[in-house]
Parts: sequence; structure tokens; C-alpha cells
Amino acid sequence: MCGIVAYVGHRNAQEVVIKGLKRLEYRGYDSAGIALLNEGIHVYKKKGKVAELEDLVKNLSINSPIGIGHTRWATHGEPNDINAHPHYSASGKLAIIHNGIIENYSALKQELMNKGYRFTSETDTEVLIHFIEDIQVSNGYSLEEAVRVALTQVVGAYAIVIMTSENPDLLIAARKGSPLVIGVGQNEFFLASDATPIIEYTKDVIYLNDQEIAVIDNGELRIKTIDDAPATPYIQRLEMELEAIEKGGFEHFMLKEIFEQPRSIRDSMRGRLDAAAGRLVLGGIREYVNKMMQADRIIIVACGTSWHAGLVAEYMIEEFCRIPVEVEYASEFRYRNPIIREGDVVIAISQSGETADTLAAIELAKSKGAIIIGVCNVVGSSIARASHAGSYTHAGPEIGVASTKAFTAQLTVLSMIALTLAQKRGTITDRKFHEMLVELENIPAKVEEVLKQNDKIRELAYIFKDATNFLYLGRGYNFPVALEGALKLKEISYIHAEGYPAAEMKHGPIALIDEAMPVVFIATRDSSYEKIISNVQEVKARKGRVISIVTKGDTLLPGLSEFVIEVPAVQEALMPIVSVVPLQLLSYHIAVMRGCNVDQPRNLAKSVTVE
Ligand code: G6P
Repeated sequence: MCGIVAYVGHRNAQEVVIKGLKRLEYRGYDSAGIALLNEGIHVYKKKGKVAELEDLVKNLSINSPIGIGHTRWATHGEPNDINAHPHYSASGKLAIIHNGIIENYSALKQELMNKGYRFTSETDTEVLIHFIEDIQVSNGYSLEEAVRVALTQVVGAYAIVIMTSENPDLLIAARKGSPLVIGVGQNEFFLASDATPIIEYTKDVIYLNDQEIAVIDNGELRIKTIDDAPATPYIQRLEMELEAIEKGGFEHFMLKEIFEQPRSIRDSMRGRLDAAAGRLVLGGIREYVNKMMQADRIIIVACGTSWHAGLVAEYMIEEFCRIPVEVEYASEFRYRNPIIREGDVVIAISQSGETADTLAAIELAKSKGAIIIGVCNVVGSSIARASHAGSYTHAGPEIGVASTKAFTAQLTVLSMIALTLAQKRGTITDRKFHEMLVELENIPAKVEEVLKQNDKIRELAYIFKDATNFLYLGRGYNFPVALEGALKLKEISYIHAEGYPAAEMKHGPIALIDEAMPVVFIATRDSSYEKIISNVQEVKARKGRVISIVTKGDTLLPGLSEFVIEVPAVQEALMPIVSVVPLQLLSYHIAVMRGCNVDQPRNLAKSVTVE
């Protein structure tokens, strides 16, 4: 949610910042801006995509060695040129970019207005930079000290970077709640919301911690806390490759990421699972496995697609480990005064590792003595770092806003967690355990088989692209898949879609069914197969248009469906990893045919760092 990027060094900052903003555009894309230095700070900003900002600044001949830039997902104030970042201070000597929300901005604004300050935008960010300058001027503080003192009085979440016209070598950055990565090059520094704008220049990065301030001055980096204590920068070497964040010949990131799944699923098992040797080791949770297997209950917290992965995990953990599981929307959990006991295990699932509600939910659970296990994709992310232990999903960077490969990698890792606990608890037979390991190893090849039907799924998309509503129905392990299929369609094609447990259809959605309603059944051959056949009949009887995802070789459902997509037979608990793939492709093709921006759907952001 909002991307920030900044540079200071020997390169042309304009080029580095604009390129960086394009890499971060998945985080927000309603407006963008850049500030450069040339005898004073010059700010250029534009409503719309980064490409429009790029157009605006392409003929500038400012060779600024320092610059800050921002791509916005609006919270305070509508998306327009004025509300776009960077924002100037009152004197015009400072400029700021900000990702997050200043919750007490209106009290601060009132105070500043009483002192005669005037505001040009409706943003909380402009309030912050005026506030900082006011502290600096009134007390005669250095900028560094003014930023620090201001932040002690700010309530909310932020990652900020500030530049000043008075020192072309100075950048001051700080974070609380929103991510900030510092790339350390040869006499140059890069700052960004994530590592993607940085890796083509340097792989040496520092993840700034919450409540830390970074001061880059004259080629030197210092880090201190908001309480003014020095902190030691910890430089890590990133393993990410540039090609992982480029489209690699695909029309969209989302399509590339769907097709990457055989590899990303394999990567999430790499070094952890060896079916022939009967070996399954998740190094990141090894020290906590005993505590996890003894837990009276497991609570899973997540949002969006990750929450759907959590539902599948609930079914798996209860089936294989016989531990009660609750799956919670992080945003509800954190505010409803939940009962959390010492020793409860909380599994937090998050692709970005930065989702504000999920982060807050685990902080709450941690404060009550729960053990936090993170299942994150982004290495070094806030949730990963706030967890006691965890397993990365290792799906590689996911750029498309609609989550695809991260979901299947989450399911893979969660199934490995469930199997690890089940084996330790003795709640799974050796035979079943072994069968599951073998099946996990086979899953990438099975996903590959589904991907081969891309053309057929495109035909299906063409038939249904003009529908105004869709229903997705599944039972058992395929119920969360129905939810995920509906979410994918809503997110990128703007068609209204509902996911439901197939049997619940009778309690409401059945009223919607008529000859115009496409109903997608995820009806693979599993323990509820017979039951779902009855549900298909119920839809057919009301003239609904049945599309079925079936197990290869199914002879019954083709006769009952207008369109059928086959998937290979898979162990029931692992079927979601395979059965979701045709639904990802269906929503992708429908969205493309409807002319929607698949990678950057309206109003959505990839990483939701505000609550
Ligand atoms: C946003 C994204 C979704 C994602 C959700 C949770 O809504 O658009 O794709 O599922 O946040 O994000 P997380 O990073 O915590 O998995």
C-alpha cells in the first residue's frame, strides 16, 4: 500500500527513482510523484500511473544525485495531483514521502493551523512534514533531531523518507509498521518499500526495524532508535534475482505467476521434503514443533487469499493432527477481545508479511503468551520477524496484485506443517504419511497438466466473459477453493462472484439461480463427491449454467455440465493446490477479455499496510 523509493549517490536519481516506482507500482497506482534537487527541491506529481509521471519528467535536465519518489494508494484525500506525494514543508526546504497513516493528524493539523500554517493537500503526510519543520524551526534543532522528536508524538504507521534543500547528501528515513529496506551500494544508498527497486544495483540490504531512524549523510549511514539510542545496522545479502521480478515474455505478471507454480511449489518443498527417504524437515519451526504438537488449539490469522489458505489448513490440521483449529480474519480477531491462552499456537499466514491487521493480530496474541508461527513469502518481512518461528513459502516475488503462486505455496507449506505435527503426535499412519509425501512431490507435475489446458480455459472464459454474476461452489477441501475462485474473479474482472459451501446454496444463493447464472462447481472425486452431484442437479433443475472442475476420467459430470475442466486425481487434502489453478486461469482470461488491468486492479493494493 503505497510504494516509496529514494536514492542518494553518484547516479542520476531521476532514473533510479522512476524505475524503482515502476517496480513498486503493484503497491499502489492512483498517483505518483518525485522530488529532485537543483538549487532547491523540485516536486513533480501526477494523478494516474507511474508512466504518466515518467512522461511529465522525461524532458527535464536535472541531474540530481538525490531524489525521493512515491506511488500512492489513497487513504486521506482523493487521488489527484495535489494529494500525490512528495509533499513540501511550509518553507519549501523539506520534502517527504510516506507510506502509512498518521492517526492523530487532525489534532496535529489543528495545532499547526492555530500557529498559522496553511495546507495545500488533504493528506496526513503534509501535516507530518509541517510538524517536523515547526519543531525544527521553533527549537533550532537539526533536521535529524526534529524528525526524531516529531515521531515520538506521532500515532500511527509510517515509513518515511525526507530530503532537504540545505544538504544534497542527506536523506532521513524512519519506520513504524510500514516496511523500509535500505540498499547499500558503493558510495550510494537506495531506500524502498521492498527490495525490488534495489536488487539490480546491490544485493546488500538492511531491513530497518520498527521505531528506527536511518540517517544517510555524506556517504555514511547511521541508524538510531526513536528514543535516540544508537542501533547497529545488520547488512543481509539478498538471494533474489532480477529476472524474478520481470515479466519474462508473459503479457502480465499474473499469467507469469500462474505458470510459475510448478516451480514455486517445488521451491517451497526444496530441501525440506524427500519422499523416498521418508524425510520431512521444516528447519524454521524445528525448535517449536514440540510446543506446537502439545497445543490445545491452533488459531490461524490472515486476510484475503491467505485467509483462504488458512481454511484449507484448518481442515488439514484437524484431519491429520486432531488439534482444534480456528481460522480468524486478522481484522476481526484483533478487535474482538479474543480468548488467547498461554501456549496457544497462532499461525499467521501472509504473502507480503506486512499486512497491518495480521501484524497487529500476532502482536496481540504474543502479548498474551501465544506462540507465533509465521508463514510468509517475503523474507525479512515484518510478520516473519515478529514471529517466534516460521516457514517461508519461497514462492519468489509475487507482483500481480491477485495472489496466485503465493496461495499454492502457502498450501504446500501448511500441508508440510500439518504432516510434521501429525507424525510427531502419532495421529497419522506411516502409510498415509508416506503417501502424502509422495503426492506432494507429484503436485508440480499435476499443476503442469492443468496448465496445459490453458487454451481450453480461454474458450470457457470467452463464453462467460459477459456474465454479471458467478457462483462458485465446493465442499470439504474444495470449499475454500470456491471462495478463492470467486475472489480471483471479483478482484480482477469486477464481476460479482460468491463462493459458498455447495450445501449451503439451499439457504440463500439458490434464489439467484436462473438461466443467466454461471455456477462453477469444484467437484473432484473425493469423499463428498456424491453429495456435490446432488447440488449440481439442484442447479441444473433451475436452469443454471453449470461449469465443473472434475477429476480426470469422470464420466458423470460431463453429462450434467455445460463445460468441464479436468484435473488429475490428487489426494483429497492436497487437491486445492491443483483445483484452484483452472479458476486462476478462468478469472485471468475473463479479465483480459473485459479489458481490465489484470496486474493492477482498481482500488486494490498488493500489500495492505493500513488497517
Ligand atoms: C491484499 C492483496 C491480496 C492478499 C491480502 C492479504 O488484499 O490484494 O492478494 O491476499 O492483501 O495479504 P498478505 O500479504 O497478508 O497475504
